[in-house]
Amino acid sequence: MKALITGGCGFIGSHVVRDFVRRGWEVTNLDKLTYAASLENVADLALEPNYRFVRGDLCDAALVRELVAGADLVLNFAAETHVDRSLLDPAAFARTDVEGVACLLEAVRADGRAALIHMSTDEVFGSLPAPLEAAEDHPFAPTSPYSASKAAAELMIRACCETYGLPVTVVRSCNVYGPNQHIEKFIPLFATRAVAGEEMPLYGDGLQEREWLFVADLVEALRLVAASLPAPGYQAIHVGSGERIANIEVARRICQLTERPAELIRPVLDRPGHDRRYALDCSKLRAMGWAPRIPFEEGLARTVAWYAENGPRRAATDPSFAGYFEQQYGARLS
Ligand code: TYD
Repeated sequence: MKALITGGCGFIGSHVVRDFVRRGWEVTNLDKLTYAASLENVADLALEPNYRFVRGDLCDAALVRELVAGADLVLNFAAETHVDRSLLDPAAFARTDVEGVACLLEAVRADGRAALIHMSTDEVFGSLPAPLEAAEDHPFAPTSPYSASKAAAELMIRACCETYGLPVTVVRSCNVYGPNQHIEKFIPLFATRAVAGEEMPLYGDGLQEREWLFVADLVEALRLVAASLPAPGYQAIHVGSGERIANIEVARRICQLTERPAELIRPVLDRPGHDRRYALDCSKLRAMGWAPRIPFEEGLARTVAWYAENGPRRAATDPSFAGYFEQQYGARLS
């Protein structure tokens, strides 16, 4: 079986690429290598005969069309994903997350054979008051340029499924964590800074809740979804852990795991438009036989250990990190 995986040098994409290659799929990894991607995330696969890396842009219609042709399955992880960056540069999100998806849909339509799995997010629903959980048909109410771009992409997908009968499965996930995530995201940033004995900038009151899923559990869910294809036309499936935890609690646990004082947690000016709570109803996927295996306590310990080893070097060698950190946190921490 042949898969085209876009964004395979990023966080989630790199874990999926590795899993598919190890299971014998013929995998082409298309990645633009933006700041959030790293060839290091897939370095161990470089010499595998069933793995091919192509550097390129999801918006390059001719290239995407060429790569989709011949694939049985396309998995799209290529995206700008950081809410804070979307507040600084919304246009970049419209380009990759919306225009890129439109380009991919055109290629899938021209090919007429490959099924598409598109990675989306619980953030398309906006903030949900407790005890609400969003099922697959919950209405969209995105609040950030990031979530708006993901919702827009989904609308484009639905329209193309209706109009052209394209076979697309949208997988909406809660917050995912684990090794290979870019160091400017919440858990990587806090773990890396805690290890270094540096302050951890917690937005607002820290009582915002996120639902956390270890990346290996998401990979299993995606494998199950892929095995259930082809599904006719459009479908959406939610992947979540049910483990909803306030940010301040996550920060405290990171302090415990790194044996650092909780005083390193530094409340700072909140993110504008910060959603308070996300929550997914995942009964559809659970009915297909999936359940998360890694509890947050275990996954966080594994993740913090990985960042203790890799975080400081990644932070020091990333060409964009220092500038971004200063722009985002300089005034907040001064
Ligand atoms: P993030 O990883 O950016 O994901 P999300 O897309 O859910 O916003 O952030 C997770 C949570 O952590 C979110 O509520 C914002 C919060 N956060 C902080 O409090 N401080 C930080 O420096 C960062 C990056 C995030």
